[in-house]
Amino acid sequence: MMQEPVTMNTGRLILRQWKPEDVPVFADMNEDPEVMKYFPGPLSRQQSEGWAENCRQMLGKQGWGLWAVEVRASEDFIGFVGLHAPTIDLPFNPCVEIGWRLKRSAWGKGYATEAARECLRIGFEQLGLNEIVSFTSIVNTPSFAVMERLGMKRDPDSFQHPSVPPGHILREHCVYRLSRLDWMQSGTK
Ligand SMILES: CC(C)(COP(=O)(O)OP(=O)(O)OC[C@H]1O[C@@H](n2cnc3c(N)ncnc32)[C@H](O)[C@@H]1OP(=O)(O)O)[C@@H](O)C(=O)NCCC(=O)NCCS
Repeated sequence: MMQEPVTMNTGRLILRQWKPEDVPVFADMNEDPEVMKYFPGPLSRQQSEGWAENCRQMLGKQGWGLWAVEVRASEDFIGFVGLHAPTIDLPFNPCVEIGWRLKRSAWGKGYATEAARECLRIGFEQLGLNEIVSFTSIVNTPSFAVMERLGMKRDPDSFQHPSVPPGHILREHCVYRLSRLDWMQSGTK
């Protein structure tokens, strides 16, 4: 496992350690109801500060995690993309998931997919993972569209997310998977 926080450059983006100046932008993003449409609710400023600090610490400790994403041309922080080992009770744990959340002005440009491709590469080539999963509410079409662009394959079975209350529209989740072998053989590498 890596120790130093890894910084990656893609064509248009930098994936890097979090900076203090990212936090207010992150908090604004997490207060945007459109960004948080597929989550039980927006985050408070305090929750966003906690999230950002956790991300910063995990990257510092492991060298990988949920990276802060910056647009190279404008130097704007636009959200996070990265890898995470969930600790909640999931039917497919232990696993490493890939996930993303970008501010609204950064949607529709291919940024999530571009950053995620780099995270898959780190996961398979540097961390030696055999599989990376991703999961989202079955109504979160934009998110599973990213999974499909990455060449991930949807499990036939959905599952009930343990952190979402029974009966809530966001409780049913789909799972996508990508094996190292499929990643190596795919054109999405
Ligand atoms: C999920 C999320 C990151 C997806 O963002 P997105 O911008 O739709 O996804 P991508 O970055 O892959 O961009 C793809 C879009 O950019 C377009 N695009 C424009 N220029 C592009 C370029 N140069 N290269 C690639 N795609 C480009 C694509 O055509 C596609 O548009 P379409 O959806 O209209 O077909 C975003 O909706 C989000 O942050 N949502 C809120 C948080 C969330 O729900 N996270 C997931 C929780 S599990």
